[in-house]
Amino acid sequence: MHLETLTTYNFRNLIDSTIILSPGINLFLGRNGQGKTNFLESIAILSSGRSFRTTRAADFIRWGERECSIFGKVNSDNGSHIQGVAFKKSEKEFFIDHEKVSLSKDYIGRLSIVTFTPADIQLVKGTPADRRRFIDKHMADIDSLYLQKLLAFQRAIKNKNSMLKTGGADHNKLAAWNQIIAETSRFITAARVELARELDGKVRELYQHFSGTASEVSVRLVSALTSSDGEPLTAEETAEKINQAATREIKFGVSLVGPHRDELQLTIHSKDARAFASQGESRSFVLSLKIAVIELIERRRRDTPIVLLDDVDAELDTGRKRALFELIGDGRRQVILSGTGESMQSTPQLGGGRLFTVQDGGSE
Ligand SMILES: Nc1ncnc2c1ncn2[C@@H]1O[C@H](COP(=O)(O)OP(=O)(O)OP(=O)(O)O)[C@@H](O)[C@H]1O
Ligand SMILES: [Mg+2]
Repeated sequence: MHLETLTTYNFRNLIDSTIILSPGINLFLGRNGQGKTNFLESIAILSSGRSFRTTRAADFIRWGERECSIFGKVNSDNGSHIQGVAFKKSEKEFFIDHEKVSLSKDYIGRLSIVTFTPADIQLVKGTPADRRRFIDKHMADIDSLYLQKLLAFQRAIKNKNSMLKTGGADHNKLAAWNQIIAETSRFITAARVELARELDGKVRELYQHFSGTASEVSVRLVSALTSSDGEPLTAEETAEKINQAATREIKFGVSLVGPHRDELQLTIHSKDARAFASQGESRSFVLSLKIAVIELIERRRRDTPIVLLDDVDAELDTGRKRALFELIGDGRRQVILSGTGESMQSTPQLGGGRLFTVQDGGSE
C-alpha cells in the first residue's frame, strides 16, 4: 500500500499544504528544527490517531490555534480511499472518504505503517507496557478482530479496576466483568503467543544480519494465561485462573490476572535484554523486531506496510543503515525517511522517488 497525498492543517509548524508522495522512496532533508519529524509524525497519526512522540494530542495543534487535521489518500491492493483525523483540544474525530466514523476500530488498520524512530530503543530498554503497545499496534494491522477484542478488554478492565478501587466490588459483581475479561483475554493471549512465536523465528535470522554476530536471541510471551510450555490456556482454564484471583483482587484493589500483565520477553544469550543488552545489541534487536513485523504484515495481509524512518543519520551507523536498506529498499515498499543529509550517501538511490527539502515547516 502507499500514501499518495498528505494534507495537513494547523499541524505543528507545518505550513498548510497538500504534498504528493512517491510510491517508492521519499526523502525529507533539512536542517534541525525545520519540520522533518513533523511530516513523518503526521503520517503516523494519520494511520492510528497516535503519535510516536507524545500521548498529548493537544501538542499536535499549532501554537495559538484550536484545531488541526491530517488527511491522506491511500492506495492499496483493495482500491483507494481518503482517510483523515481531526483534533480539537481534547477531542479526536476520524473520517473515511469524508464520512465521520465514530469507532476507532473502524478506522485503524487501513493504513499500516512501521516506524523506525530514535525512541524505539524503548522497545528493548523500556517497560513491559512499551512492548505490549508494540504488539497491539501491529496486531491491529494484521487482524481487525484483535483490535475489537482488545478495546472490549480494556473497557472491561477499566470498569473492573474502578470498582475494585472504590471498594464497591464483591464476588458477584466481579464475576460479571470477569466473563468478558476471560473471553477477550483468551483471544488476546492466543494471538500474542502466535505473534511472539513468529517473531522469534524471524528475529533469530535477522539479528545476525544486523549485528554481524551469531548471538542467540529469542522472543517469548510471558503470561499468566499460558501453560508451562507456553500454550494459551483453554477457555475454562482462563476463566478459572481469572476468577481465582478475585479474593486477592478485592484485597489489593486492582486486577491482577490478564493480558495487561503480559511481557514480551526478549533475551540475548538467554539473558533478559532489557537488563543486559548493550546499546548496539539493543539497536540490532529493535531493527530485527521491526523488520520481522514488516514481513509478518506482508505475509498475513498480502500488502506492504509503509515504512517511516526518522533521523536515520543520527540513529544508525553506516553498517546498520546499509543492512536496513538492503532489507527494505528493494523497491516494493513506500519508504518515507528524514535526515539532515550529512551521511545520506548510504541511503538508497532515489530513482523514481522524491526529495523534499524542508525549511520552516514547508517542503519543496
Ligand atoms: N504545536 C506546535 N506548533 C508550532 N510549532 C511547533 C509545534 N510543535 C513543534 N513545533 C516546532 O516544529 C519545529 C520542527 O520540529 P521537528 O521536530 O519536525 O524538526 P526536525 O526538522 O525533525 O529537526 P531535527 O533535525 O532536529 O530532528 C520545531 O522548531 C518545534 O519547535
Ligand atoms: Mg527530527
